[in-house]
Amino acid sequence: MIELEKNNIPVVWVTGATKGIGLAVANAFAIIGCKVILSGRNKSQLEINAGKIIDQGGTALPVVCDVTSETSVRTVMSTITKKFGGVDILVNNAGVTVFESFEKTTIKEFDQILGTNLRGYFLCTKAVLTSMMKQKKGHIFNIHSVAATTVFSNSSVYSASKAGALALSRGLRMEVRKKGIRIIDILPGAVETDMWDKLSRKKHHHKMIQPEDVADALVSIYCQPQRMTTDEITLRPVEGDL
Ligand SMILES: NC(=O)c1ccc[n+]([C@@H]2O[C@H](COP(=O)([O-])OP(=O)(O)OC[C@H]3O[C@@H](n4cnc5c(N)ncnc54)[C@H](OP(=O)(O)O)[C@@H]3O)[C@@H](O)[C@H]2O)c1
Repeated sequence: MIELEKNNIPVVWVTGATKGIGLAVANAFAIIGCKVILSGRNKSQLEINAGKIIDQGGTALPVVCDVTSETSVRTVMSTITKKFGGVDILVNNAGVTVFESFEKTTIKEFDQILGTNLRGYFLCTKAVLTSMMKQKKGHIFNIHSVAATTVFSNSSVYSASKAGALALSRGLRMEVRKKGIRIIDILPGAVETDMWDKLSRKKHHHKMIQPEDVADALVSIYCQPQRMTTDEITLRPVEGDL
């Protein structure tokens, strides 16, 4: 377990922390003593989640942030800067999908998926990058998906968004790694969250990764020796994709 310096507690911003993987990641970083900002669109749920961390002696700030909106991201970044001085670890996690054929996917759904999974990662990364560059350190975890590199039926737009975000991230890593910033790409397979309908969760429950498993992977990567980093990692159920 990493020893956090008492006067240098890392500040972690997790997008999409109302539920699923984002909530598990926020909880896991809070457990090791980090200050955690939980963002998402559902204010009351964020307050409940942050309240539980605070009740257990942790530090948590719930903030409403729609990652598709430049104004919303800027406002949150300014709130975080005022309260904590900046962000040491960003977890780009907020994401959406539809399990739908290309033909049936609407333009509105296309815009929402690309706006969240690609533009959202771009906006939040831009918001933290300048100050990380000044500090010459920082971790940016990007939660992609195996769909970034493997295609599935009824997920073409989701795959396009995840492949785009992965390419963006790989390019950014080349530009910033010499400046001390770690860009860490996580490609999970099926994780049991609300992204899947009830029937699929019931049918595949025993095969699916749990959100806490992904969260533990992030914390253990964060706790690696300072001389190394993990560029990219795929986390799959033992039996492979569903
Ligand atoms: N579940 C899987 O099998 C799986 C596998 C690989 C990768 N992933 C990726 O993991 C990430 C988390 O997904 P999940 O499975 O945990 O899904 P989830 O349970 O549906 O959670 C999605 C989260 O994203 C937030 N969100 C959605 N749109 C947003 C927006 N415009 N602005 C801010 N927050 C937004 C939601 O909060 P609000 O609704 O409150 O905004 C929620 O907290 C996604 O990027 C997903 O693509 C999931």
